[in-house]
Amino acid sequence: MIIVSCSHGKHLAKNIANKLKKPYSELEFKRFPDGEIYLRFLKNVKNKTVVLIQSFYDNINDNLIEAMFAAHTAKDLGAKKVFLAAPYFPYLRQDKRFKPGECISLRETARLIDNCVDQISIIDPHLHREKDLHHIFKTKSLKLTSNPYIASYIKKNIKNPLIIGPDWESYKWAKSVAELIGCESLILQKKRLTGRKVKITLSKKIDLKGKNIVIVDDIISTGNTIIETVNNLKRLGAKKFTCLGVHGILVEDALKKLKKANVGVITTNTIPNKAAKIDISGLIAESLK
Ligand code: R5P
Repeated sequence: MIIVSCSHGKHLAKNIANKLKKPYSELEFKRFPDGEIYLRFLKNVKNKTVVLIQSFYDNINDNLIEAMFAAHTAKDLGAKKVFLAAPYFPYLRQDKRFKPGECISLRETARLIDNCVDQISIIDPHLHREKDLHHIFKTKSLKLTSNPYIASYIKKNIKNPLIIGPDWESYKWAKSVAELIGCESLILQKKRLTGRKVKITLSKKIDLKGKNIVIVDDIISTGNTIIETVNNLKRLGAKKFTCLGVHGILVEDALKKLKKANVGVITTNTIPNKAAKIDISGLIAESLK
């Protein structure tokens, strides 16, 4: 086995290789003036299982093309098997045709992946209408969860937490993290109005006295879901909040907005960012043993 980092996997790949005591290499990556990309394997992959590490952020479409090119090239160079470990995998939210004529991006992305890798592993995929990864991918798929890592962070750093999930989809994280810690959790109701606007409502009265509120969600993108949640909780008298996200996409100044709203942000490092304090390289390494 050899661990090969694509351009958006470098923050994890070396650690993964070290934990597995396997050789490590980085893909040479260059961009031509017209935007085309250039890739080159720098170590021999013949007869080896090549594990490509690529997360998907900043320019997810380029990340996707890079992973596909790398997978096909590895096979072309004689690799025995090619695995893709994707700490964050995109396009899972467009899982149906919401309006007539729409592309079901999830399905199209899955087809591309099926065509080039023997296995894909994803950390906390955003599964909604599709219940499991094997309903999405034909190739072998592994669904990994960072919940134990998040629970252990909260246990170590936050006393008397009350775990809040902003919407019913977040129960997979909020409820399970609360169970691992052995504390209370509450799931709110969310209505998405647009890509940037959401409305959150409380489903029941809650007593926040003496509790440290910890909002747990899988993705923090614009931060608007968290801000709307916090605004509701502020009406109940809560003042300080921490939010724990698996994937810190953090676009459109999300961190600044959250800081202004008095929210401390912690995420895992599936996507590198200033708030990524929870290292999940061990989770990927374990799944490759
Ligand atoms: C969606 O249901 C996800 O679980 C997140 O709540 C959502 O993607 C967060 O997006 P944003 O930070 O832009 O509100």
